[in-house]
Amino acid sequence: MRILGLTLAALLLGAAGPPGAASCTGCHAAGAGIGVLQGRPADDIAAQMEAFRSGARPATLMNRIVRGFSPDEVRALAAWFAAS
Ligand code: HEC
Repeated sequence: MRILGLTLAALLLGAAGPPGAASCTGCHAAGAGIGVLQGRPADDIAAQMEAFRSGARPATLMNRIVRGFSPDEVRALAAWFAAS
């Protein structure tokens, strides 16, 4: 069911993804050396984002970037990247 849900999210959101997705890929592109988000498990992406938010995971940038997104928006981004 989870795979179906991810596929559905990708279909509903379309190729452009949820708000903010294009800003992520600017830094998280293949070859940029930061790490590609596409195809990573949604739970992993969301957990890392929330760790940046709480400060549990030290960061240079992501701690500030994640504050621009609600937890729901983070989950939508994570689901979309996982399904991309
Ligand atoms: C300005 C460049 C930049 C942008 C834009 C950016 N990131 Fe990042 N991201 C980084 C850097 C640098 C790191 C490494 C942690 C740090 O130093 O902040 C990182 C780390 C991460 C990680 C952890 C990766 C891992 O390997 O564990 C995730 C998940 C992530 N970003 C998601 C996102 C999402 C989702 C967005 C869009 C909302 C985004 N990032 C936008 C630069 C960026």
